[in-house]
Amino acid sequence: MTERMPRVGVIGAGSIGKTHIRAWQANGVTPVAFADANPAALGAVIAEYGGEGYADGLDLISADTIDIVSICTPPRFHADLAIAALDAGIAVLCEKPMARTLVEAERMAAAVERTGTLLSVGFCHRFQPQIETLKAMIDRGELGTVMSFRNRFAGHKADAATTWFSNPELAGGGVLADTSIHSIDLFRFLVGDAAGVAAMTSTRETDLGPTLEVDDTAAMLLQTADGAIGVIESSWRTPAGEWTLAVHGTKGTAVMDYGTMALRVSKDGTTWEEVPVEPGDRFAREFAHFLACWRGDASPRVTAADGLAANRILDRAYRSATEALPG
Ligand SMILES: NC(=O)c1ccc[n+]([C@@H]2O[C@H](COP(=O)([O-])OP(=O)(O)OC[C@H]3O[C@@H](n4cnc5c(N)ncnc54)[C@H](O)[C@@H]3O)[C@@H](O)[C@H]2O)c1
Repeated sequence: MTERMPRVGVIGAGSIGKTHIRAWQANGVTPVAFADANPAALGAVIAEYGGEGYADGLDLISADTIDIVSICTPPRFHADLAIAALDAGIAVLCEKPMARTLVEAERMAAAVERTGTLLSVGFCHRFQPQIETLKAMIDRGELGTVMSFRNRFAGHKADAATTWFSNPELAGGGVLADTSIHSIDLFRFLVGDAAGVAAMTSTRETDLGPTLEVDDTAAMLLQTADGAIGVIESSWRTPAGEWTLAVHGTKGTAVMDYGTMALRVSKDGTTWEEVPVEPGDRFAREFAHFLACWRGDASPRVTAADGLAANRILDRAYRSATEALPG
């Protein structure tokens, strides 16, 4: 039996838009329509993949030629595009953060409820094989009671000052909104929902660049209702990058290093064992799962409610940061 293949459109043909195209192709689907406000970016993808091109994503949606849309624009446009697609019965795979603001995320979640149409958010780390293995270890109780979680995603974003990433109107926030939103979702996926939220953010003029209009460095604390604590750090201004995640429990600690892609576990803090994990591309796996959901063969691992919950925590974190000194 041949499986039904969807007609896919991609809105936003920049960095992650190209990743989406490749992830669709890894699943046997070549997108048939593209939209980008930048004619050069649009021309480049049309030259490479063919298909219909649109300057405005809303025109792509109203053309009524696609079943699924990948939304890969800056966050400012996520809500309007997603709601238009949902109202047209088009399934949505929307990049993170789900929305620029909590109010926009609430509007999107309400549209999912109203239309009953599939929407998932690009929390791709849930599909990283080592993270899936870690989740299974936690669920089997191999780390005991989870006491704390620590996740640092930090490096040097050299173009931060010159791109939409530092424009609050387009991005809705800085490194906390861009990068720590993944950490918020990882905490919720691996440990549980956050009942407590606190954060500090900063932006500073340094040898790496000017003071931005958004945060370039941030730290956040999360806590589940039953006491597990999450420590989340992010920065765009630390060239000695660190992309690590650790879960500490009463029976052991597991550490995932995105540099080496090794998941290691220790029961005593002295001896460490690498956990064997079948390698896999998180985006290709995320999109395979989305296709299964679209066909009705699976329930979404990342729902609109998950996207909304992450936006709600992000909103609380920014409000906490404005109350924290020095501001
Ligand atoms: N899941 C991940 O790991 C991941 C990684 C990178 C980016 N992202 C997210 O993907 C989104 C895009 O980020 P990016 O790094 O690809 O940015 P980018 O700047 O590389 O690309 C964005 C593209 O959108 C186009 N665009 C801007 N406004 C538009 C509009 N109104 N309509 C149509 N096109 C428009 C731009 O011309 C550009 O080509 C953001 O939400 C970002 O947070 C997710």
